[in-house]
Amino acid sequence: MGEKMGNMRRTHMCGTLRRQNENQEVTLMGWVQKRRNLGGLVFVDLRDTTGIVQIVFDTDISKEAFDKAETIRSEYVIAVKGTVKIRESINKDMETGDVEVFASELKILDEAQTPPIYIKDNDDVSDAMRLKYRYLDLRKPFMQKNLKIRHKTMKLFRDFLDENNFNEIETPMLTKPTPEGARDYLVPSRVNPGNFYALPQSPQLMKQLLMVSGMDRYYQIVKCFRDEDLRANRQPEFTQVDVEMSFVDVEDVININEKLIQRIFKEIKGIDIKLPLKRMTYKEAMERFGSDKPDLRFGYEIVNLSDILTNSGFKAFSGTIADGGSVRAIKVEDGASAFSKKGISKLEKYVKTYKAKGLAWMKVIEDNIESPIAKFLSEEEIKAVASKMDAKEGDIIFIIADKDDVVFDSLGHLRIEVAKKLDIIQKDVYEMLWITEFPLFEYSEEEDRYVAKHHPFTHPMDEDIHLLETEPQNVRAKAYDIVINGDEIGGGSIRINNSDLQTKMFKALGFTEEEANDKFGFLLEAFKYGVPPHGGIAYGLGRLVMMLTEMDNLRDVIAFPKTQNATCLMTQAPAMVTEKQLEELSIALNMKEDKTEDNE
Ligand code: AMO
Ligand code: AMP
Repeated sequence: MGEKMGNMRRTHMCGTLRRQNENQEVTLMGWVQKRRNLGGLVFVDLRDTTGIVQIVFDTDISKEAFDKAETIRSEYVIAVKGTVKIRESINKDMETGDVEVFASELKILDEAQTPPIYIKDNDDVSDAMRLKYRYLDLRKPFMQKNLKIRHKTMKLFRDFLDENNFNEIETPMLTKPTPEGARDYLVPSRVNPGNFYALPQSPQLMKQLLMVSGMDRYYQIVKCFRDEDLRANRQPEFTQVDVEMSFVDVEDVININEKLIQRIFKEIKGIDIKLPLKRMTYKEAMERFGSDKPDLRFGYEIVNLSDILTNSGFKAFSGTIADGGSVRAIKVEDGASAFSKKGISKLEKYVKTYKAKGLAWMKVIEDNIESPIAKFLSEEEIKAVASKMDAKEGDIIFIIADKDDVVFDSLGHLRIEVAKKLDIIQKDVYEMLWITEFPLFEYSEEEDRYVAKHHPFTHPMDEDIHLLETEPQNVRAKAYDIVINGDEIGGGSIRINNSDLQTKMFKALGFTEEEANDKFGFLLEAFKYGVPPHGGIAYGLGRLVMMLTEMDNLRDVIAFPKTQNATCLMTQAPAMVTEKQLEELSIALNMKEDKTEDNE
């Protein structure tokens, strides 16, 4: 049983004690990191949110405190009163390593069982254990630091946006489906049997309505919900910093937002980001990097070899070009020795997961070209390829022939895979850029029609509006993403604010008037009453904080995240509910037998 704190009051935080505190009497409270007995002394490392300091219990100072100290174990919660002294042997590995506290009084505030995971950074405990005992995992210094950086980032967003006349306005969580294109999380309505709310995938429609209402500048740090396949940088519920502005065009949104990002990196990382940020059109990003979120920390740019190989005897190449595809390549400097036949065949398997049919390669070794396709190509073709790739002794070239989208996707992923394998990606470097001029539509093979690449309210580029009906595939959007180190940190667009254009857009998307009204009727109605030109952006807060904390997984910057299966291992959510609850909601379950048994 713990004792009451009694008359003890915390005066200092563990991690803050330094030489300057010498001879001060302090009272500290925290968790026992570890205890060691050394002859007549007991040493305790005491931890709170600011760090760890060493406490010394000495029978000569207090026999009572010493005796009690002998009984304490890891993760006990204690209060200690004592005097700060300079250590005889300085510990350079601890921030408080110059000092220790000689204890005159000890109170055990709560005892603790042996925790199921160690409370230390870089422990190789399983993710499942970390998530099950998340409250213990969060005691680790790096997790404490991550959550504090997240807090500070949110504060910087709020401060900056407030200074620039944005109002933080909340929008409903129980709402109608929003147009971000993922699957919805639904919430049944008890009082309206058979009806469901959707949790917002984003506040997109609400923020546009706030512009119609004349709020001028809005932001919100807001939870969004998307039922989609999860990855390292995706969670089913995640936080956006959602922003919308009236009377703006692309330049206005980009200008203010890059100042915002500049401020955040300055305040949190101490890094001066030069403005304006780089910009690249979607087309250029795809052609040079095979991705709309290029990582610019390394090269391996994609080169188009089609003009050299149009008439090649190698049908895998010339045939592909004749069918409207292309042959493109990347060059890895000094990569020839790094990739054996076996290593290359692994890479070939890898690109096949992105639908490539094969992976051809050429190594430059002692002025010769070594390549499994050398026998299919003429000497001139080989020379022309090497020359166009500017290949030097020791380099390797990887070549893929296919439809453009397959070539881009597979070479785009290959360049990252190779960079990771060769460990050439610099840490603590931030390569940021805007990607602009996205296509307005993308073709959905599944639905056999064009769908909005962003959402159906995205404004086409003015010069492309005339192509809406005739060449939808060539219409570019007033849409932009901000990309940092190969990750999409935020994205947005200028919105359509004119009903004729909106009608054309729905038509191009194959919506009937009825369908459009059914889905977005309230917005279309609102748009009859005077809509300012407007646009905005939303940041993935977690993704940005991942960058700022140099973490590889979104989970490490979220207090209570979910697993890949969208479950919470700590609370066991989601869970079955009672018959009575279902009855009240007028819901009957219709599950396959084995599933029911699994869950019972
Ligand atoms: P978008 O869908 O691009 O745009 O989302 C904006 C940003 O949110 C982050 N993000 C995610 N982060 C974690 N887990 C997820 N599942 C997840 N999905 C998205 C990304 C992304 O850049 N309403 C529009 C914005 C606008 O047009 O203003 C929207 O939601 O970092
Ligand atoms: P094949 O004649 O199909 O055995 O292919 C010979 C070589 O060309 C192998 O190394 C394949 O990986 C490669 N290859 C085949 N098709 C393609 C393609 N579409 N793009 C790149 N390389 C290819």
